Amino acid sequence: MKLSLKLIATFFVALMMSFNVFAAKITITMGGDDERAMREHYRFALDWAEENGHEIGYVYRPASATDTLNLYQQICSSGSSDIDIFMIDVIWPGIFADCAYDLNNIFDDAHKADFFEGIVGNNTVGGKYVAVPYFTDAGLLYYRTDLLDKYGKSPPSTWSELAETAQFIQDKERAAGNAKMQGFVWQGAAYEGLTCDGIEWVNSFGGGNIIEADGTVSINNPNAIAALKTAASWVGTISPEDVVTYKEEDARGVWQTGNAVFMRNWPYAWSRSQADDSPIKDKVGAMALPGGGSDGKMTGALGGWQLMVNKNSKNPEIAADLIKHMTSVEVMKTKAIDTSNLPTRPVLYDDPDVKAANPFFGMLFDTFNNAVARPSTVSHKYYGQVSNVFFNEVHSVLTGSKSAEDAAAAMEKDLKALSRKF
Ligand code: GLC
Repeated sequence: MKLSLKLIATFFVALMMSFNVFAAKITITMGGDDERAMREHYRFALDWAEENGHEIGYVYRPASATDTLNLYQQICSSGSSDIDIFMIDVIWPGIFADCAYDLNNIFDDAHKADFFEGIVGNNTVGGKYVAVPYFTDAGLLYYRTDLLDKYGKSPPSTWSELAETAQFIQDKERAAGNAKMQGFVWQGAAYEGLTCDGIEWVNSFGGGNIIEADGTVSINNPNAIAALKTAASWVGTISPEDVVTYKEEDARGVWQTGNAVFMRNWPYAWSRSQADDSPIKDKVGAMALPGGGSDGKMTGALGGWQLMVNKNSKNPEIAADLIKHMTSVEVMKTKAIDTSNLPTRPVLYDDPDVKAANPFFGMLFDTFNNAVARPSTVSHKYYGQVSNVFFNEVHSVLTGSKSAEDAAAAMEKDLKALSRKF
């Protein structure tokens, strides 16, 4: 009798859980490059909460990926359960594997098979499924179609063409009275974004990937040095002096007011540029970033964000259910249309509505597929330190406090020392 009562009680609890009868508060942290977009994403979480009788807490992450990393590391090392779901960068699964709830408990191989295999692989650390791919990213070159047409210029396929066109149009527009016109805006502050821009320059010059997949530190080479010198030559010529303090939204701020010929940014900037209230609506093109030098190739850095459940969460299964919703075909499709976030489900690249909202998705599919990855897999939990070395040294070249040769030698020394720990 005792046993059967216990059985009935267990059955009843299981039944209630299957209907999510227990209301839970799930706190999610997202945000960053584009707060407005993330607030739009938040509504999907609210829909889910309403439908399932739960509540949502929302915590904005800082705009800088580097500041976000520091914040999340503090939360994780304190063992806090305050945040249930973290939106984590594509370079962080190795760093946060220990803090993650194993999503293999929830998502089987059939579910994973609908996402890009490479990203699922990236998010699997020592067999643990750390996070579900939320959206992917690739660095792009944006250009003003109206200004290029006005001056009879073509979109550039090399950095020297870009510099020439940027300088030409900047000079002409300033002479015509637009003193604010800039040739090229990008991310030059000392943070993770500069690691992305920097690896693009280096890779586009045939200068490798900073640290190669086999652990070789490759950054101290003539092509990488040439790339860094080229970028430094833009500061104060085709780019404003204070580009060395810019993050994504600073660059977009200049661009979006119509005051830049070219901008390096991520796909989210497309939907913002094309918004109804945008002064540059229908005057924008997007393409792969230029190549440099004789070994060069057009390129773009791989970025993107994943959703991870905190292993200390009080409600990991319910949190995972929210992730399932946030990464569903329906939500991902709406997100791709409204905010130009690249889907992590290949099927959506064939969707006519997604293609209509983002004409560059199809054109740049190869760029997205061949995007250059930062060396996070090889350096796993040391990636944050690797990136710090790289962006600080690159920053010192941009500000003129170090030569490209000295910075490359310093990076080689520091990264070799770090790589002994990998
Ligand atoms: C974007 C990318 C991310 C990258 C960050 C750098 O958000 O998706 O991967 O680390 O920019 O600022």
